[in-house]
Amino acid sequence: MSFNNLDTLYRQVIMDHYKNPRNRGALSDESLTIDMNNPTCGDRIQIHLQVNNGKVEDAKFEGEGCSISLSSASMMTQAIKGKNIDEALKMSKIFSDMMLGEEIDEDEIDLGDIEALQGVSKFPARIKCATLAWKAMEKGIDEKKK
Ligand code: FES
Repeated sequence: MSFNNLDTLYRQVIMDHYKNPRNRGALSDESLTIDMNNPTCGDRIQIHLQVNNGKVEDAKFEGEGCSISLSSASMMTQAIKGKNIDEALKMSKIFSDMMLGEEIDEDEIDLGDIEALQGVSKFPARIKCATLAWKAMEKGIDEKKK
């Protein structure tokens, strides 16, 4: 596939998650809620996690932001649901590396739709948008571990 076609495909995947977000909404009162804002624009999202016995049983998100932040939240919740917390944290580390422009070993992990955000690494101002949901998830898991 040419770079232009790949770019178009990635743009479509991002817009699909933005317009048809997966896992948008709240969870029960017993879930963890992490509120995080992007200091550069003031946009704010909440991540809700249901973590039991070291496993992310459910994940949802609410809030407002740009297409990158909301599609990233949609992809993140989809990716970590059903994973154990170490796997979720590993995915977050890989996502951060991807945002730093590092090569990702795709044999090591199946990024699925998340791969569509790879191009964001070329736009430093948007990296905070893309990592917002992931940082919130990491914070929630850290709190749960304490
Ligand atoms: Fe605010 Fe992207 S511009 S989160």
